[in-house]
Amino acid sequence: LRMTPRLHSFLQEPFQIPNEVKYSIKMYKKGNQFKVPQRTNKSTNSSLAELMCTLKNRVHLSTVKAGDGPFSGEKWERSLPKQSLQETLGNPKTCAVVTSAGALRGSSLGKDIDSHDAVIRFNSAPMKGYERDVGKKTTVRIVNSQLVVSEKKKFFQDPRYRTGVLIIWDPAPYSRDLDEWYKHHDYNFHEHYHEYRKVHPEQPFYIISPSMQWDLWDVIQENSPVDIQPNPPSSGMLGIIVMMSVCKHISVYEFVPSRRKTELCHYYSSDRNWQCTQGHYHPLLFEKSLVQRLNRGEEEDILVLGKVTLDGYSQYTC
Ligand code: C5P
Repeated sequence: LRMTPRLHSFLQEPFQIPNEVKYSIKMYKKGNQFKVPQRTNKSTNSSLAELMCTLKNRVHLSTVKAGDGPFSGEKWERSLPKQSLQETLGNPKTCAVVTSAGALRGSSLGKDIDSHDAVIRFNSAPMKGYERDVGKKTTVRIVNSQLVVSEKKKFFQDPRYRTGVLIIWDPAPYSRDLDEWYKHHDYNFHEHYHEYRKVHPEQPFYIISPSMQWDLWDVIQENSPVDIQPNPPSSGMLGIIVMMSVCKHISVYEFVPSRRKTELCHYYSSDRNWQCTQGHYHPLLFEKSLVQRLNRGEEEDILVLGKVTLDGYSQYTC
């Protein structure tokens, strides 16, 4: 099996950073929307076990709870779930993370994906019509605040959002300060959240804490050879952490691209853009490199199936 250039270049040492990614990093550092401080410390040589323990010790599954700073008062008490996300998800043995990458189209991975105890999907990713490639089981779905605000009608009505546990995230300031985020959210999702909870009170729906986004970002930054984009990690990377926090073993599909790698952005649409896979706003290339370093499976499974096998936090004593 020969590695092909371009996207597979980031799987090899030395780590190659495409010019477009270099340009994005420069541009986002200049804007620095989330007020990320200058960073220098780098530890790119950690072993798999060290990396796992860094994640386990520092990046925790954390959601907003009623009474957390500005998320107080009757309305939030009513809307925010009483039970923690950990309790709701339990401890599945095997979990699948299904990215939305175009490379999943024609993969025939549906059965393999559905054989896991729990499956996480992202944003508007559909199952209907794509079952053969991506399966139909959905246990968790992470959506970004942009989708909930700009595609509100669809989000409230489309059945794809009705299955499983929902988790929303909104890019927060690096400070992790809840008051600052409350005032300077990226998309104003608060009222939509309250409304959704009223319409679908039986469906668990959580809000990711800023600390989880940026604690994860810190680890990606520290383990990358250059300064990464000063923006929060992608929905996909957040989903990997959610599953690592609760599952024993995790299969991640087409996060580290297989030989089906394509400029097709999503398996469910016809947009073509390499940035979807290598990153622009999100430090996606660096997320993928980190996840590849955590792979417990065969290199061939990545190339042929686009499948990375990870251990959950519970498998490590740190
Ligand atoms: O585009 P969207 O964020 O909805 O996709 C879900 C996740 O799948 C992304 O956050 C990213 O982690 C992953 N993805 C990818 N390559 C693509 C498209 C998405 O790795 N081409």
